[in-house]
Amino acid sequence: MFFSARRSWLDALYERSYRMQMGEVHLPGLDLYMVNKPSLVKQVMDTHAEAFPKSNLLGEALKPLLGESIFTTSGEQWRKQRSMMDPAFAQARLNVAFPVMQAAVADMLKRLAVLPDGAEYDLEVEMTHVTADIIFRTIFSVPMEGADAKRIFTEFARFQAIAPRLLLPSIYGLRWLVWPWDVWRSRRSAAAIRGLLGQLIRPRFDAHRAGKPSDTTDILQSFLDAKDEATGEGFGFDELLDQVAMLFLAGHETSASALTWASYLIANAPDIQERMHQEVVMHLADRQPELSDMRYLDLVRNVFRETLRLFPPVGFMARQSSAVCPMHKKEIEKGATVVVSPWLMQRHRDLWEEPDAFKPERYNNDASRESLKQAYLPFGMGPRVCMGAAFALQEATLILASLVRHYKISALPGHEPQPVGRLTIRSANGVRLKLHRRKKGI
Ligand code: HEM
Repeated sequence: MFFSARRSWLDALYERSYRMQMGEVHLPGLDLYMVNKPSLVKQVMDTHAEAFPKSNLLGEALKPLLGESIFTTSGEQWRKQRSMMDPAFAQARLNVAFPVMQAAVADMLKRLAVLPDGAEYDLEVEMTHVTADIIFRTIFSVPMEGADAKRIFTEFARFQAIAPRLLLPSIYGLRWLVWPWDVWRSRRSAAAIRGLLGQLIRPRFDAHRAGKPSDTTDILQSFLDAKDEATGEGFGFDELLDQVAMLFLAGHETSASALTWASYLIANAPDIQERMHQEVVMHLADRQPELSDMRYLDLVRNVFRETLRLFPPVGFMARQSSAVCPMHKKEIEKGATVVVSPWLMQRHRDLWEEPDAFKPERYNNDASRESLKQAYLPFGMGPRVCMGAAFALQEATLILASLVRHYKISALPGHEPQPVGRLTIRSANGVRLKLHRRKKGI
């Protein structure tokens, strides 16, 4: 298994994996159960979530960067963090975030405008840039410009490239296969990012502690104002830094992955892309998109939802059983790893009609209702469901609408992106597409 999957855990899957209800892998130091049946998934992620805290598989690789962030903690520590962070994602904050998204998307269009018409381009580069810029502006109220911001961006890219090399061996219980050189490089990048983020946070943290008033409405302000209900205490500096680093990573890596795959899918479905273009042009005419427009862009949103089904950025979620537990005629050992995979669930042969087909119309169609209810979980489910789901849908609708409004995206003959499971589902050979500028209003 390790050798077939050394490039990516996706390579360890067989056709049989897409039909099974539950699978298991036992290696020295590893008992792993893959849960694929909707009722079992619900048990692990939702109804019995307390009994299945987060596994530290992912945590170990991410700890140097994210410390004790909400993404990896469990129990009381997680509950406190979640309630303190909730207000940052309330609807009112999302309304504030929209103009920030508009400004970052306007900058994206300026960057694309310098490309020659019909240029071949790896869209992953731009999708990573624009989503990183959006989350950076939403956290700090400043665009991701200047030497320090660029360095944060570069070091994040470096960290993301190394993290899977630390993650894969630990998934297979073969931690000794991790190269000390990789460990050193990832720690060095993590330290650089934390140093730079710390420099941005420090003056505002100190001003807040000194009681200086602020009329800023960004996420950092919301985190500074947050108080633990039980103790009345706010986040300490290191805890705040952990949450900000996590949010920067979770807030752009996932969206960038999905938007890149969405571009690839519509490049290969020109009729759907044309209908998206018409929807946007008919609805907006010559205006700039406003927040209130987003809910009318049905097809654009459904294209994104269907992309999240076929290429869920978070391909698997790992939990740890806290006690011996009967499950699907088996007995799961205490401490075993229990994995739920949106990738497998959302392409499951028995749970979806035409599971591998790109069909955005599923979301308006009664026949898919049951599949969506039981086997669609790109944002996770239960108490640990993604905090940024509404934020991500809003930014993706805006970005995709802006892309198809101004460009016709076409496939590059002979280029077939190879999905691999890294921190998110990415392409091993990039996603190269052609961008043709559209004439205004056509
Ligand atoms: C398409 C984009 C996104 C996808 C597919 C996605 C997916 C997910 C998933 C599957 C989880 C749950 C992981 C688990 O249970 O193990 C999660 C958690 C989380 N996500 Fe997202 N996410 C996206 C965008 C965002 C954005 C934009 C933000 C922030 C602005 C964000 C913030 C978070 C946070 C804070 C958590 C941790 C929640 C907790 O553990 O209580 N995500 N995300």
